[in-house]
Amino acid sequence: MANGSGSGGKEAWGTRIGVILAVMGSAVGLGNFLRFPGKAAQYEGGAFMVPYFIALLILGIPLAWAEWGMGRYGGARGHNCTPGIYRSIWRNPLSPYFGVVGMIVPVCIYMYYVFIEAWCLAYAWFMATGQLALGTERQAYIDFFGNFVGAGSDGFLAGGSSVSPAVIALGICFLLNFALIYRGLNKGIERFCLFAMPLLVLCALIVLVRVLTLGTPDPNVPQQNVLNGLGYMWNPHTEDGSFWKSLSNGQMWLEATGQIFFSLSVGFGIIITYASYLKRDDDVALSALTSNAGNEFCEVALGGMITIPAAFVFLGVAGVAGQGTFDLGFKVLPQVFNIMPLGQVVGTIFFFLLFLAAVTSSLSMLQPAIALMEEGVGMGRHASVAILGFITLMGSLFVAYFSKDIMALDTMDFWVGTFCIFILAGFQTILFAWVLGIDKGMAEINRGASIRIPRLVGYRLKYVSPTYLIIIFIVWIKQQYTAEKGNYFLTLRDNHVAQLTVGFILLVGLLFLMLIHESVRKWQKAEREKQEARS
Ligand code: ALA
Repeated sequence: MANGSGSGGKEAWGTRIGVILAVMGSAVGLGNFLRFPGKAAQYEGGAFMVPYFIALLILGIPLAWAEWGMGRYGGARGHNCTPGIYRSIWRNPLSPYFGVVGMIVPVCIYMYYVFIEAWCLAYAWFMATGQLALGTERQAYIDFFGNFVGAGSDGFLAGGSSVSPAVIALGICFLLNFALIYRGLNKGIERFCLFAMPLLVLCALIVLVRVLTLGTPDPNVPQQNVLNGLGYMWNPHTEDGSFWKSLSNGQMWLEATGQIFFSLSVGFGIIITYASYLKRDDDVALSALTSNAGNEFCEVALGGMITIPAAFVFLGVAGVAGQGTFDLGFKVLPQVFNIMPLGQVVGTIFFFLLFLAAVTSSLSMLQPAIALMEEGVGMGRHASVAILGFITLMGSLFVAYFSKDIMALDTMDFWVGTFCIFILAGFQTILFAWVLGIDKGMAEINRGASIRIPRLVGYRLKYVSPTYLIIIFIVWIKQQYTAEKGNYFLTLRDNHVAQLTVGFILLVGLLFLMLIHESVRKWQKAEREKQEARS
């Protein structure tokens, strides 16, 4: 393993456990504790796990291996940024420009993700200081959240002329993320994850023990007990309880695939960047599997057993059914913590753990762009952090300002957090299996590996993964296009904020295209000079 400062002044990971925890930190986030339980409960609990695990095996884990392998391959050839890594694999003049999606995805997701991270920090504070003790009526929590995020109207102000606490919390989260990223890969990201990851698992275990020991809190409603809560989360809910009928829900297959990408941070351009800082013979096979396994433990065993069962025990089916991710996290759970014995402490720990999980993820979203500016364009740390800070601050303020119906956030989440992730994941699968080729690719993954990945995985990546991805993508776009409710194509046609948001994303893309172009020129010049020196 490299020793922190790295060779030749370049950045490098300090320890093997450090890089595994950093990748796991990127993966474990709000997706594990809020998005996953929300989706699983919405789509028939246990039945959701079928497409979920199929997507994990066909797409998630193989693609994570491919990203780790390609990242280390590019790193060994002097590249840490996705455009450079793509160029080292595919010697086509266009290849680095595909890296623009690998920039848009993490940078734009960061813009809204850090805002939700700020909500978690603020809610931990509200919980600890008793400001969320709003009684037993759900409406009070709905109103509180609406006022807090400014869902009623656009702007930064909350009641009167005071700046919204959500914007203040956003400022704190921003400073924390950039202070850590400024310290660098080893001293910032790795050290923070080494302490934050065990702490967040400890917090989750405390909350889990509290939830699993709730028993039957109200003897007058005996059916609202922990076992039934777990049953509500994991049993299919079709009228006749038929597992097979639940599986026929097409939308569920799409959501499960999207969840795997989002949760593992695959198709984000992050893992490929992180892996580029490994040494040529460092293990990637077992490290990738370990971080994926850690993520799945946090998602299924911790996230899956906390949120929904806790809400069910106190509020019953009526209190849980049909709640979206944010409703569950910021409206239902605060109400539950108010009823739960020791709820104030448990609630504070829960929101703090969400905050920690979010920081380790948001941090990772900054590194790909930092890598491009430092390694590609040749900027120093001050300049790259300042420029990225400015771009992402504009984006986050944009999201925080256009808060009515959380429109900007929602639009960015769809077009970047789902649509672009599919595109990037698809591109990287093709790049690995068809351009690098499975012979070279699998040899790359298996070099220095602590376990041997069977060749079959290569075939899966070459044929099964792209086919599955294309089918899911086409079905999903078709469903979106014809959906009457929640149709993002129609929203884009009719809503000005949605149009502005997509315009903003394209502007970010244009900016990164310019930076990539500058990097390409620099790489070409360096190659020419090398050739001239040789001849
Ligand atoms: N993988 C991160 C999460 O689950 C983005 O929140």
